[in-house]
Amino acid sequence: KKLIIINGPNLNLLGKREPEIYGSQTFEDYLEILINKYPKVELDYFQSNIEGELIDKIQETGFSADGIILNAAAYTHTSVGIGDAIKAISTPVIEVHISNTFSREEFRHQSYISPNASGVILGFGLKSYDLAIESFFND
Ligand code: DQA
Repeated sequence: KKLIIINGPNLNLLGKREPEIYGSQTFEDYLEILINKYPKVELDYFQSNIEGELIDKIQETGFSADGIILNAAAYTHTSVGIGDAIKAISTPVIEVHISNTFSREEFRHQSYISPNASGVILGFGLKSYDLAIESFFND
């Protein structure tokens, strides 16, 4: 299986960014664990702080990958463009969040990703990504 994890803005700072919410592990360290755990998965990774670059990557991989695991971070709550990109592609998208966005501020309850996602996993810390990968093996 060919899966790609796409992380949005500020997720490059995982490990030092609000660790009480997002934990103290860097994503690079966690990715290493995932790659070792799923040796049969071809696992790609992309992170950008730029909305258009995220859309470019969704378009680029959205007709060839078996799945996109997307944490659009703050753009989740604002980006019609990313929502439309997910509608435009054929690869299924799993929306992921580290924190439980529904237990946080009201503005985090809105998602432009969810209506177009094939599934949503949130609130399990970095393990949310692991659960998303696992979801591709339940078929
Ligand atoms: C996040 C939740 C978003 O509301 C926030 O803007 C983020 C991270 C999460 O993974 O919990 O940057 O997507």
